[in-house]
Amino acid sequence: MSRPSFLDLCRAELELCGVEEGTTVAVLSQGHQRIQYVDTFLQVCEQMGATAYNVRLGQETTSLDGEVGAWEVGATPLAGNELAMNALKAADLVIDTIFLLFSKEQLEIQASGTRILLCIEPLEHLRDMFPTRDVRERVEYGEQLLSKASELRFTNAFGTDVTYQLGAYPVITQYGYTDTPGRWDHWPSGFLFTGGADDGVNGKVVLAPGDIIFPFKEYVRTPVELTIEDGRILDIAGDFDADLLRDYMAGFDDEKAYGIAHIGWGLLETAKWGILATDKRGIGMHGRSFYGNVLFSTGPNQELGGTNDTLCHVDIPMRNCSLYLDEQPIVVDGDVVVDEMKSRTLSKA
Ligand SMILES: [Fe+2]
Repeated sequence: MSRPSFLDLCRAELELCGVEEGTTVAVLSQGHQRIQYVDTFLQVCEQMGATAYNVRLGQETTSLDGEVGAWEVGATPLAGNELAMNALKAADLVIDTIFLLFSKEQLEIQASGTRILLCIEPLEHLRDMFPTRDVRERVEYGEQLLSKASELRFTNAFGTDVTYQLGAYPVITQYGYTDTPGRWDHWPSGFLFTGGADDGVNGKVVLAPGDIIFPFKEYVRTPVELTIEDGRILDIAGDFDADLLRDYMAGFDDEKAYGIAHIGWGLLETAKWGILATDKRGIGMHGRSFYGNVLFSTGPNQELGGTNDTLCHVDIPMRNCSLYLDEQPIVVDGDVVVDEMKSRTLSKA
């Protein structure tokens, strides 16, 4: 993609984020990482009459975005850097090109009223899943339903049947841009989620062939059966894929790794389930967002306001599931069945 095209994308994205003359924008970066993104955002902000500046950290870690090395969430190079934190909190909008998700620093910046847009994905992913107001409306319709529900249950043909007691945690939406003070989003995205009560998740989750395990960026090939009791994974059974998952989680040597994190569903029709067969770049927003997936996850819940701060986070978008809120079908066999959330462009919708 040519640079002018990315410039246009950035301008459209910043317009969706409510950037206008007089808005203050801090672009957070480290070392030379994503330097083109940083430069382009700064340039576009200037063209739009916003006041923009770059908060650049010298430390370059490779474990934050999943491209290289382990994907350990929540530990950021901002820790202890009060001056940089103050510079970020002073802006209306922070563009995060590092990956602050699940960190105390991110929550602190949001609490100051500063909204945050994460932008770390490859250009083609930013372009192909570019956010729209339509997706926002559909995601926010889901937010209303999920906020009112007291119980979420999901199943699949491989034996999944698990129930989450809701109400303890807020609903988080991701539609790819943010124009609301203190709100975080990630360009690109298209899903929503909440968390079950800490001891209120019970049942079995059976991962089926084709489900995706992040951060492995791999499709499950053989079923993996997770037994969950009172919000804790007690057992991981199956063949090769189960061994990998068990080994990965054990590697953190942390009991909190076996907690249950967020639960929700994807609504983004431009996200491609099969992309990992040919393109493993990025942290996997196609996989997490694809239309009709049920996004099951394990590990931390501090993003939702909980106390589990483990560094071990596994996101598992599952296909062909059925998801119910207080017995109302929301997704049936991998297809969204609530009219207000259905894609207006997918032929099957
Ligand atoms: Fe997650």
